[in-house]
Amino acid sequence: MPYTVVVKKDYDELSKHAARVIAERIRVQPDCVLGLATGSTPRGTYHYLIEMHRQGLDFSKVKTFNLDEYLGLGIRLDTPYAQDQSYARFMHEEFLRHINIPAKQINLPVGTVKDPEQFCLQYEEAIHKAGGIDLQLLGIGSDGHWAFNEPGSSFFSRTRVVDLAEQTIEDNYQSFFKDAGFSKDQVPRKAMTMGMATILEARELLMIASGEKKASILAKALQGPVTCKIAASAIQNYSGQATVILDEAAARGLKPSRSEDIAQSCVH
Ligand code: GLP
Repeated sequence: MPYTVVVKKDYDELSKHAARVIAERIRVQPDCVLGLATGSTPRGTYHYLIEMHRQGLDFSKVKTFNLDEYLGLGIRLDTPYAQDQSYARFMHEEFLRHINIPAKQINLPVGTVKDPEQFCLQYEEAIHKAGGIDLQLLGIGSDGHWAFNEPGSSFFSRTRVVDLAEQTIEDNYQSFFKDAGFSKDQVPRKAMTMGMATILEARELLMIASGEKKASILAKALQGPVTCKIAASAIQNYSGQATVILDEAAARGLKPSRSEDIAQSCVH
């Protein structure tokens, strides 16, 4: 099934729309399994989902699985948020502690386990036991990665431990670690990530991207060849329902042929 591209005016509109798509899934299927993402892009989506929860959106039966975590980092609630750069803490602060989801229904990779490889197998098994992911939220890295599936990740890959690309380390340093006073060599170089096959088995994908800095990689991922060098290009062959929500700046690199389709599928 071809994916749908929705272009919104700006980041705020994009975030509202993404939140609406997720909320709609929860209303239709209150016990759905959501795949969740970190990064600066989903912040606004979580913000609007929290607002919707305050107006009655019920998360009590929802289950969640997060995409990834830095190896060596784990949530430390006794530490100020800025000093705890784990993705688990991000999820806790930006979303999970503000909604009524029971803790036992939240699944996050734990970067501090003794045996990460074994943990990855168990995580994969837990997703399977939950019946698979109904809707997976995704951002896109500047090298085209989904979660931490860096260039070269096989589309058949499963949840596993990976080495981060230099570009990703730099991006995450600039976006998160730097302002909190960390040096670049304090950014973890390894992570746990859901695999490409794990992501592609989700029944619905929702990819969000904002800003001009994502325009060129999005054009490659959505309109260039499907290649494991750009993980997000896998969306072109995805067999379920996929929606890509962009703001105008992120959509700027898309070729005219595709913008005609975009104009038709646009919901402003
Ligand atoms: C990290 C995360 C990805 C995310 C990407 C983009 O590498 N592992 O899941 O999509 O960053 O982040 P941002 O939204 O900050 O651009």
